[in-house]
Amino acid sequence: MAILSQTLEHGPVTIRPIRLRDARMLERELLDNRGWLRKWEATNPHAPMSFDVRSGIRSLQANARAGFGLPFAIEYEGQFAGQLNVSSMTYGSLSSATIGYWVSERFAGKNVTPIAVALATDYCFFQVGLHRMEICIRPENAASLRVVEKLGFRYEGLRRRYIHINGDWRDHFCFGLVAEELPTGLLRRWLENRVPAGAGSVPEADRATALLPGIQTAG
Ligand SMILES: CC(C)(COP(=O)(O)OP(=O)(O)OC[C@H]1O[C@@H](n2cnc3c(N)ncnc32)[C@H](O)[C@@H]1OP(=O)(O)O)[C@@H](O)C(=O)NCCC(=O)NCCS
Repeated sequence: MAILSQTLEHGPVTIRPIRLRDARMLERELLDNRGWLRKWEATNPHAPMSFDVRSGIRSLQANARAGFGLPFAIEYEGQFAGQLNVSSMTYGSLSSATIGYWVSERFAGKNVTPIAVALATDYCFFQVGLHRMEICIRPENAASLRVVEKLGFRYEGLRRRYIHINGDWRDHFCFGLVAEELPTGLLRRWLENRVPAGAGSVPEADRATALLPGIQTAG
């Protein structure tokens, strides 16, 4: 089931389907922002990091054609600013998906990501018909935790050694929203200052647990 992603915009921020002709620009941004992105980059525990940007885009597009993802480029005032990927899309009784994102350092702090996340979330709820959206973030990633806090994603819990990031399995704080929480959409709720206070705050006990050494392996 292929769900086609669309071009969606609010103010200076646009999200649109990533294309093969973005490859050169994407490669330049990834290389120029290596130090900015590395700490948060998903890695494959069984293979070295690939810098083949064209095949990365092809694989995102194939995943989208199969109905499992929506790969967006993020633009700010018409300039390529980063990526937002909706992934792990499931239908039927789960009807859920996960969002991941990054922007180049020079676009940080301009609300680009919260707007992009709100556009993608509203699209998934109201056009695709999904029921739940999830974002998982490393406890150390203060900037990303601010994104979910601003939008009022609800804190759902700590997952130990959940995603392979920057060369190891890392703990993540996970946040979710379901469609019935947002009768008028996520973007409108945020713009109209109706985000419930404290939804995205992480309990002290989970912050403390995440500071402890990870789960020990047997033997
Ligand atoms: C996390 C990230 C996507 C946030 O995107 P963004 O578009 O800057 O989001 P916002 O504008 O809402 O900024 C969020 C917070 O980042 C911090 N921030 C702002 N400018 C910053 C800068 N130049 N450098 C570092 N942090 C900055 C601020 O605390 C800001 O919160 P505030 O608006 O309350 O001041 C971006 O920092 C990024 O791409 N980081 C590297 C990759 C990454 O972490 N991806 C997410 C993995 S879960």
